[in-house]
Amino acid sequence: RHPGWPARLGPLRVPAGTVELRPPRLFDGGAWSRIRVRDRAHLENWEPTSPGGWAERNAVLAWPGQWSSLRGMARRGHALPFMVLVNGTLAGQVTVGNIVRGSLRSAWIGYWVGSHCVGGGVATGAVALVVDHCFARAGLHRLDATVRPENTPSIRVLTKLGFRQEGLFRRYLDVAGAWRDHLCFAMTAEETGMGLVARLVEQGRAQMP
Ligand code: ACO
Repeated sequence: RHPGWPARLGPLRVPAGTVELRPPRLFDGGAWSRIRVRDRAHLENWEPTSPGGWAERNAVLAWPGQWSSLRGMARRGHALPFMVLVNGTLAGQVTVGNIVRGSLRSAWIGYWVGSHCVGGGVATGAVALVVDHCFARAGLHRLDATVRPENTPSIRVLTKLGFRQEGLFRRYLDVAGAWRDHLCFAMTAEETGMGLVARLVEQGRAQMP
């Protein structure tokens, strides 16, 4: 057992519906694969290049391997992998990875939301729930989010939540078949004030059901 895992987060109401997060399950494969195969055009430009190709990496048969790898990293305290549900149905993922403890207490955060429910505050609400969890129960101090300069919706998610842009990493990540520059956004525990969820509620962007 590691601090902050396993965990269920939410519910939180956003314009698109009620957002909840929970650990991945073996039976998520069907719904996960259906969204990911359908949404190749929506997701592929922003995700690490997949060896073997998109269809193969996101097939139903690929899920047990991914699930077991996520579960193993979570059990060892290296990751906090969450499935995002909207109104009870799988809609995306938020993953906290490369958790380093000791004097760093830092990790990266990444996310995706299916094309059928973008633009309704789902990513913003889900990431807010995870960030609050990381700085409270999971005992982290800093989160990094790296994003391609072309990814306007994702940059908007980060700036709405109060992440600060700290720099530009040149040729940082192998995404969609090439080394891509990424902006580095970050947040530390001191910057969250009342908490990101409470701030969204105060701004009228979310409600506690
Ligand atoms: N130009 C300007 N703003 C835009 C555009 C655009 N073309 N498209 C969307 N937006 C805005 C929306 O209006 C909204 O802002 P608002 O609340 O001020 O109106 C914001 O971007 C999106 O906020 P949410 O609704 O909370 O986010 P959503 O649930 O739509 O998910 C996400 C956003 C995760 C980026 C989704 O589009 C996605 O999964 N994209 C593909 C994968 C991806 O890019 N993942 C992030 C990689 S980077 C990282 O993980 C750190």
